[in-house]
Amino acid sequence: MNPAKRRTVIAGNWKMNFTPAEAVAFINEIKPMVAGKDNCDIIFCAPYVTIAAALEAAKGSNIVIGAENVHFAPKGAYTGEVSAEMLKAIGVDTVIIGHSERRQYFGETDETVNLRTKAALAAGMRVILCMGEVKEQREAGITNEVCAMQIKLDLAGIPAEDMKNIVIAYEPVWAIGTGLTATPEQAEETCGVIRDVLVELYGKEVAEATTIQYGGSMNDANAADLLAKPNIDGGLIGGASLVAKKFTAIVDAAQ
Ligand code: 13P
Repeated sequence: MNPAKRRTVIAGNWKMNFTPAEAVAFINEIKPMVAGKDNCDIIFCAPYVTIAAALEAAKGSNIVIGAENVHFAPKGAYTGEVSAEMLKAIGVDTVIIGHSERRQYFGETDETVNLRTKAALAAGMRVILCMGEVKEQREAGITNEVCAMQIKLDLAGIPAEDMKNIVIAYEPVWAIGTGLTATPEQAEETCGVIRDVLVELYGKEVAEATTIQYGGSMNDANAADLLAKPNIDGGLIGGASLVAKKFTAIVDAAQ
């Protein structure tokens, strides 16, 4: 972390977990546990049907509720999708885009990730843009090249002034939900590469101000070591974001 230069962001990605009632119970449990912990932004991204209840439960707290995806069109014949305008209309300003599970299971590409990101930014939303290499790419020693290319494609055509509304989430796919965490050194190295690409694209000032999270089996036991690294400015947390005590410990590691 480098709080002097950029905001630390600790975000939960609930994925396909929590009914509205379960989300309300969770928010009510965690709200007092994270109250006043203002050295980082605290976000939970929820399934669409759970968002309204979570928003209501989080009202007046330091918890932000976001969505897990957004479509690039404002409306129309896109069965099963939700637009940025729809999310904004119910009070959602934050959205995850490009999660590897969307790329892996639902055919999303750098091109659609880029379109979705542009639509969310145009609607005034804050985007958590996910990227990262798969196991075969790390083993082949091409992690840096893969991540550099992904970030360039995902950010294509996005101007420097929009970067204040983008958080990059570096999530090595092999570390997601597997219990295998990148070592702090591995995560730091790749986050550093990503920041170098941002320097190339936008200059040093924008790159230094951009929050880069690590995601992939981050938990209460390993968060402090990961967050101690200068280029790791937060976490995007799956499994541990469903357990109030574990998530709060990660927030504490960021204080
Ligand atoms: P896990 O923390 O469960 O590995 O998930 C990480 C993730 O995919 C967050 O988006």
